[in-house]
Amino acid sequence: MKLLIINGPNLNLLGLREPGLYGSETLDGINARLAEQAAGYGIALDFFQSNHEGELVDALQKAGRECDGVILNAAAYTHTSVALRDAALAIGKPVVEVHLTNPAAREDFRHRSLLAGAATGSICGFGAQSYELALHWFHIRNTSMNV
Ligand code: DQA
Repeated sequence: MKLLIINGPNLNLLGLREPGLYGSETLDGINARLAEQAAGYGIALDFFQSNHEGELVDALQKAGRECDGVILNAAAYTHTSVALRDAALAIGKPVVEVHLTNPAAREDFRHRSLLAGAATGSICGFGAQSYELALHWFHIRNTSMNV
């Protein structure tokens, strides 16, 4: 099984960006732990981050061709991007929406996710562990599909 972890705008600034909200760990640090976790599961992981909506659409489409699923933190585009929602629906692979924070507990404009209805499920509010929980779900799904 191969998965792509996609991170959207400003998540390259994790560690520096509003650490009281998003924590002090960098995206590289989070990804290194995810790579270790995935290796333990026998899952191959790729990582992609962009601040550009079209590049995120391209990454989702590529994952549809080359991967078995996606863990997606679309960051601010979660709340605005019809294009990312359409791409998530188009690729025909499970997409798990993740967020470090719980958008439902934040400003009103974060309460609506255009991706939630296109995703297999959403995991929010557990910091970097949101990604780990999503990866764990793929592991459970993978092992239960292989019995
Ligand atoms: C975020 C939540 C979004 O509302 C915000 O725009 C982000 C990060 C999160 O992981 O908590 O950039 O996706």
